[in-house]
Amino acid sequence: MPNAAFLGIGHYLPEKVVSNDDLAQLMDTSDEWIQQRTGIKTRHYVDFENNPMGASDLATLAAKNALDNAQITTDEIDLIIYATLSPDRFFPGDAVFVQSKLGIPAGVPALDIRNQCSGFIYGLNIANAFIQSGQYQKILLIGSEVHSTGLDFSNKGRDVAVIFGDGAAAAVLGPSDDPERGVVHVNMHADGRHADELHCPYPSSAEMPRATPQAIEEGRHFPLMNGKNVFKHAVSKMPESVKEALNATGLTSEDIKLLIPHQANLRIAEMVQRRLKLRDDQVFNNIQKYGNTTAASIPLALSEAVQEGRLEKGDLLCLTAFGAGFTWGAALIRW
Ligand code: UT7
Repeated sequence: MPNAAFLGIGHYLPEKVVSNDDLAQLMDTSDEWIQQRTGIKTRHYVDFENNPMGASDLATLAAKNALDNAQITTDEIDLIIYATLSPDRFFPGDAVFVQSKLGIPAGVPALDIRNQCSGFIYGLNIANAFIQSGQYQKILLIGSEVHSTGLDFSNKGRDVAVIFGDGAAAAVLGPSDDPERGVVHVNMHADGRHADELHCPYPSSAEMPRATPQAIEEGRHFPLMNGKNVFKHAVSKMPESVKEALNATGLTSEDIKLLIPHQANLRIAEMVQRRLKLRDDQVFNNIQKYGNTTAASIPLALSEAVQEGRLEKGDLLCLTAFGAGFTWGAALIRW
């Protein structure tokens, strides 16, 4: 059974850079508070007034970069898997828009997954299973988000608004001809008892009509988060899932060349690092520049780590995520 290997990776960030001081013009916050609590210095936003873009536009540009990096043409892709919590439309999912914008041939299946910050880990597991089964050969796995058009920039929403940013990243996965290379293990988990701890309640199919001016007036279309509880679970579930991956494969923390934790908050990543007893050189973070880009955060960090030459053939890469749902998981990949 061939495992899925990374054949290429790429990312795309909208050009507008928003600093903490920029946000402090809109709400009661400060560069000091944001950096101290989250490590974030800047994030990128779509320039909505001059160049409106949805998550599928960012995804398309990231996917182009990943295909170029893999030296693969669009007609070789036989499955698209797309993770986002900020799709262009209620339906259909974004994957079909990417298919059409990229010119991936009609008939190729396009699968959307809804696993928020864990989307890339869930998608990787699905892609690996399809590649192992032989059903699909070359899979485009995308994580893309446009948060900036859906944040509450008043004081009420400041806890959420300061942490999220826009961005997209994509990977091309295919069967490895080298048994030493590719996905070694993936685990994924969920606990729906915590679904209300981080969610966007509106619009909802449980309401009729699904959207009203009054609900928008009340700000019910903005995300809500119990930050302390999310934090508490994130710092225990990510190390737990990495340990599960290491135990399942007989590997140890020392074998990890690079850990890329979901970029939720630098303090969370530092606690995960400490709990796994990893050195600084074993962990890659870029949340300082981009904030939390949810489903895009892990592939965005991976794409930058690869560009910086942080991974060589045979290195053990570890990914771990935690987010809304709650959902979480970890992956081990032999680069
Ligand atoms: O991707 C996965 C999903 N998200 C996460 O992983 C996020 C997990 N949670 C966190 O990162 C943290 O909980 C936050 C960074 C969101 C918040 O940090 P915190 O230390 O948990 O702060 P808090 O919510 O307990 O708020 C502390 C104080 C409050 O003021 P009072 O009640 O003590 O007067 C907040 O109103 O900080 C206030 N506050 C802010 N102050 C300045 C909340 N947001 C802000 C802000 N600027 N942006």
